[in-house]
Amino acid sequence: MESQQEITSMPRIGDKAPEFQAVTTQGDINFPADYKGDWVILFSHPADFTPVCTSEFMTFASMEDKFAEANCKLVGLSIDGLYSHIAWLRSIKEKIEYKGMKNMEVKFPLIEDITMNVANKYGMVQPNEDTTKAVRAVFFIDPKGIIRAIIYYPLSLGRNFDELYRVVVALQAADAFDVATPADWRPGDDVIIGPAGSCGTAENRMEGKEDMDCKEWYFCTKKISKEEVLSKVLKK
Ligand code: BEZ
Repeated sequence: MESQQEITSMPRIGDKAPEFQAVTTQGDINFPADYKGDWVILFSHPADFTPVCTSEFMTFASMEDKFAEANCKLVGLSIDGLYSHIAWLRSIKEKIEYKGMKNMEVKFPLIEDITMNVANKYGMVQPNEDTTKAVRAVFFIDPKGIIRAIIYYPLSLGRNFDELYRVVVALQAADAFDVATPADWRPGDDVIIGPAGSCGTAENRMEGKEDMDCKEWYFCTKKISKEEVLSKVLKK
């Protein structure tokens, strides 16, 4: 029996992704060990055979190859059983046409979590929202198994999948170039470089002597082309 503390604990950014073994629509998985060396998005949805979740799965399925090109695998979860998952995904493929998407096949694993073992480990059940359904949680986990970003949405709000993709690319760009990314950053936009000391002296930064554009000593950007970013992030 898990204690209340364990049930309500939530992993945080920088933590190692909690380990688990689970049954999925694509066979058993050992997480995160099976994903070592890849980025992975572990996400939850409230329930099979519900409309917002259906729209989300169709969108994720339509973008699976795009995420794969950015070295990122997808793993879904809900507090439903395997046969429910299989029947729902078959129904989506055979019966649902939505926003130009049809015949959508979900090829990534969908975890059965009737026991809530995984959902509880990841803080996906947020009882004041719903005690028996996971919220729409998204964990971005890096190739070393470290949680790098987390986004939660309530039951009623479908996720923005362009934003999920943007996060995957931005995290990889930040690692590859040792930079940060400003508001609404997309590949090709200027990136943020570190504080004075680590990136030139305050004087050189303000006098434009370094390869950077300083609006103030604490706010400096530099250019990295879209091609440079994508050459690091996308698979050849
Ligand atoms: C939905 O996916 O449509 C949904 C699921 C659970 C609660 C509300 C909406």
